[in-house]
Amino acid sequence: MKPHSLDAYWMPFTPNRDFKAAPRLVASAQGVCYQTEDGRSILDGTSGLWCVGAGHRHPKISEAMKAQIDVLDFASSFQVGHRGAFELAERIADIAPAGLDRVFLVNSGSEACDTAMKLALAYWRVRGEGQRTLFVGRERGFHGVGFGGISVGGMVNNRNAFGTSLLRTDHLRATWEPSEQAFVRGQPEHGAAMADELEKRIIALHGAANIAAVVVEPIAGSTGVLVPPKGYLNRLREICDRHQLLLIFDEVITGFGRTGKMFASQTFDVTPDMILFAKTITNGAAPLGGVIVKREIHDTLMQGPKHLSELMHGYTCSGHPLSSATALAMLDVIQSENLIGRVNELTPHFTDAVHSLASAPNVVSIRNFGLAAGVELAAREGAVGQRGFEAQAHAFKHGLLTRAPGDTLVLAPPFITTRDEVDQMVEALRRAIADTP
Ligand SMILES: Cc1ncc(COP(=O)(O)O)c(C=O)c1O
Repeated sequence: MKPHSLDAYWMPFTPNRDFKAAPRLVASAQGVCYQTEDGRSILDGTSGLWCVGAGHRHPKISEAMKAQIDVLDFASSFQVGHRGAFELAERIADIAPAGLDRVFLVNSGSEACDTAMKLALAYWRVRGEGQRTLFVGRERGFHGVGFGGISVGGMVNNRNAFGTSLLRTDHLRATWEPSEQAFVRGQPEHGAAMADELEKRIIALHGAANIAAVVVEPIAGSTGVLVPPKGYLNRLREICDRHQLLLIFDEVITGFGRTGKMFASQTFDVTPDMILFAKTITNGAAPLGGVIVKREIHDTLMQGPKHLSELMHGYTCSGHPLSSATALAMLDVIQSENLIGRVNELTPHFTDAVHSLASAPNVVSIRNFGLAAGVELAAREGAVGQRGFEAQAHAFKHGLLTRAPGDTLVLAPPFITTRDEVDQMVEALRRAIADTP
C-alpha cells in the first residue's frame, strides 16, 4: 500500500488523471481563504461550491456543531423525531415567500430536485391527473445529478454517458442571447418574451394537461451565470398560472442571500410553487438540502390510510441532527451579522471590479447579479472548454480558486469578502487570463 497515494479516491466532477498528476490539496481554511498543503494562501472565489457565504470556520457555526454532536449524534426522522429538524423547517418557512411553508429535508441539491419532481407527480396523481408526467426544464439548466435532475437539466454532458431512458422532458431555450447580453450588468433589459416558448411551443406541442411542472433556476449558475431578463420569470409564472402548471425554482445556489434577499424568488418578486435549496443553508459545513412546498400541495398529499406514510419517500439522513443544528446556526449568523446587507453593500463594487476585465484578452462576455459573475473567454477552435480549463489552473497559481464551466470563469465570493479581497480576486483572474493564450 502506498502511504500517501491519491489513487483510491475517485474524485467527483474532476479530471482525475490531470489532478493526480499535479494535485491541488488544501489543508485548512479560514474566512475567505484556503491554506494549501504547501503553505500557500488561496482566495476562495467560489465560496467552496457556492456554499460558504459566512466564510470558512465561522466560530458560531463550529460551536453549534460541537455542541450538537455531544448531545444527539443521530436520530432517524422515520417514525421518530428530534426538535432540531422541526425548528429548522419552521425557521425556513418563516423566511420563505408567503404561502410556501412546508419543508421536506434532504441532504443535497440533487436529492432536493428529485424530491420535488416526485412531489409534483404524486400531487397530480392524488388530484386525479396522473397523466401529468412530463417535466419542462431549460437548456443549460443544472439540477444536480440524480436521474430526475439530469432529465430536467439541460447540461448535455451530464447526461451523455447514461443512456436515454430518462423521464419524459422538454426544454425551454436558455435565456442567453449573446448579441444583446454580452456585457450586461445585472438583468438584461430585453428577453422576457423568451418565456413565451413555454406556451407557444411546449404547451402547444404536449398539451398543458400532460405537464407536471416547469423547473428552472432563477439564475443559471453552473452553466456560467446566466441572469434572467427583466420580466422573464414573471412571464413564466403567468403562463404556468394560465395553464395550471407547477413552477419549481431551483434556488440551490441563489438561496440564503446571494442575490441580495433571502431567496431569488423575493429578489425577482416571483413566487413559485416549490423552492429547492441546499449549499449556503449550512455554510457548507454539513450536508443538507430541502424543498419548500406550497401549503396546498402539502395538504393535498396528506391523505390515505392513517397508518401509512403519506409520501413513500425520504432519506436515512433527512433532517440529520448535526446538519439541522448547523443550518440553524447559519440562519442566526445570516441575521445577526447582516450578511444579506453585506451582499447588497458589496454588489456595486463587485460589479465594477468584474466588469473591469472586459478589456482582458479573449474576454467575450461578462454577466453578473448579486455576488455571482461569469467571465466568458472565447472558445478555441475545436476545443471548447480548454481555454477555461487552463485559465482556472493559472488562477490557482495566482492564489485564486475559481471554477470554469466550459470557457466561463465563475466568481461567487463569500458574503463577508471585503472590497480589497474582491480586488485581489479580480487581479488574480486578470493575470490568469493574461497567462492563457
Ligand atoms: C442549481 C443547482 N441545483 C442542484 C445542484 C446539485 O446540488 P448537489 O451537488 O448538492 O447535489 C447544484 C449544484 O451545484 C446546483 O447548482
